[in-house]
Amino acid sequence: MKELAGKVAVVTGGGSGIGRGMAHAFAEAGMKVAIGDIEPAAGDRVRAELAEMGVEAIALPLDVVDMPAVARFADRIYDRFGAVHLLCNNAGVVTFDLMDHISDADWRWVIGVNLEGVVNGLQAFLPRMKAQDGEKHIVNTASIAGIAPHRGLAPYVASKYAVVGISETLHAERADLGIGCSVLCPGNVDTQIVASGRNRQDAVGGPDRRVNQEVQEQISRGMNPLEVGRIVRQAVIDDDLYIFTHRDTRETAQNRFDAIMAAYDKCEERSRRSPAHGGDR
Ligand SMILES: NC(=O)c1ccc[n+]([C@@H]2O[C@H](COP(=O)([O-])OP(=O)(O)OC[C@H]3O[C@@H](n4cnc5c(N)ncnc54)[C@H](O)[C@@H]3O)[C@@H](O)[C@H]2O)c1
Repeated sequence: MKELAGKVAVVTGGGSGIGRGMAHAFAEAGMKVAIGDIEPAAGDRVRAELAEMGVEAIALPLDVVDMPAVARFADRIYDRFGAVHLLCNNAGVVTFDLMDHISDADWRWVIGVNLEGVVNGLQAFLPRMKAQDGEKHIVNTASIAGIAPHRGLAPYVASKYAVVGISETLHAERADLGIGCSVLCPGNVDTQIVASGRNRQDAVGGPDRRVNQEVQEQISRGMNPLEVGRIVRQAVIDDDLYIFTHRDTRETAQNRFDAIMAAYDKCEERSRRSPAHGGDR
């Protein structure tokens, strides 16, 4: 998407952290911004910050897990702005536990917000965006945990791998849809993610104020969210599929792909030894 000024951006989870950083970065480029967040006061604070910059912005309460609510969110944005050029499915949450300690509610919460939230965003916006003329783009927020596994993060990793897969598929379909797609895969960013239990819905256990201090310390040394937002903005202009923000995560990705290729080497070796069992496949 070459021209951003005057276009409309939607950011879920825009009330804090990376979503707020993207909202600011898009506003700096002269875009109109619609924020949806489960914390209405946080969304409204960001709306006010953007209004101070002279940008037309709205903030609406939104739980991305609630499909009828996401459909109403889309209706209100189309009523107000008449179009959506850039959709950022960004709202996300995390839990920290080894696999044998993860509760059903943890699985449902993390998969619900991080994966179903993205699916709901696509279901609500994609048909209307496709029907619009002009350039359009979708950014889905995954993580480096969507590229390689991380101990203690199974539901998060599962949700983010799925978001990477959906984004890669959207990118493969971009000529059919007329919509570009990027997937954001950051390392540590200084946000409120470690306290995401604050927004846990009652259906999956209700608010949880506990914070993992060890991870919190790592996260608070992370990248500034506005810097991430500006990297995303440039990637949208460049029509990049993958957006990596932290070069120190490269080795993590490399290790996974090396392991996959080593398994292929073994597969080839096996086929060479017994051609009757798929040697030429
Ligand atoms: N912070 C990091 O180090 C990091 C790294 C990689 C990926 N991410 C991803 O970035 C995205 C944004 O997270 P962040 O780090 O900015 O955290 P954050 O907690 O600062 O911001 C997340 C926002 O999402 C909102 N939200 C939570 N549940 C919601 C729901 N059900 N519906 C609507 N809004 C909801 C929160 O109220 C909050 O405003 C997430 O998808 C996260 O997985 C973060």
